[in-house]
Amino acid sequence: MLSQEHNDTLTRVGPGTPMGELLRRYWYPVAIARDLEEFPVKRVRLLGEDLVVWKQPDGDYGIIQERCPHRHASLAYGVVEADGIRCGYHGWMFDREGSCLDQPAEPEGSNFKEKVDVFTGRAQQLGGLVFAYLGPDPAPQLPRYEAFVMDGIRDIGHSVLPCSWLQIMENAVDPHHVEWLHGRYFQFLAEKKGFTAPAAFQKRHVQTAFDAFEHGIVKRRLLEGQSEESDD
Ligand code: FES
Repeated sequence: MLSQEHNDTLTRVGPGTPMGELLRRYWYPVAIARDLEEFPVKRVRLLGEDLVVWKQPDGDYGIIQERCPHRHASLAYGVVEADGIRCGYHGWMFDREGSCLDQPAEPEGSNFKEKVDVFTGRAQQLGGLVFAYLGPDPAPQLPRYEAFVMDGIRDIGHSVLPCSWLQIMENAVDPHHVEWLHGRYFQFLAEKKGFTAPAAFQKRHVQTAFDAFEHGIVKRRLLEGQSEESDD
């Protein structure tokens, strides 16, 4: 059982927290590229931060803190222009690097925009998804996993899970839930609602094992009908 302190250390991911610093070294999918083709601005929440991702007319993407530093209007109501995103409330304009480019109500010659600080991350499209990186520069290369770069038809689904990253990862090292939740329960739903449940998830676990190594855990499972030589 984790102590409250240990639990907080693992689950708090805001800026400046230990896990927040670690998790800010990775890219995360935050939007579907096609959604930003239909409307180029989207509010997202990532690692405890409220942000806005947008697609520029040149096809590049930006990600910025949601609150405008002027009077905290949401940049989810921003106007996308060639150089960045303009706040819908009084027109302050920000580029992808976090510079404030324009403050329409400032008198000519004012340099007030140079004193404005705004947080921006990096955003890139790959395989039909828009990924964001909120960590320090230089950003690592967005991994070219096969599923993102292979030719052919790509089927993209998404779901927002309102829970901590730890719950998802903890669930991933619980092999037996697959045969019950994805197997038996899905089969029950299929019977009641008239569709065919995939049989692969219904196979019983004959053996499970875990090997700890320096970067985490290798999870092993042997399902009924498999031999010890199976990849799993
Ligand atoms: S609140 Fe954004 S420009 Fe005023």
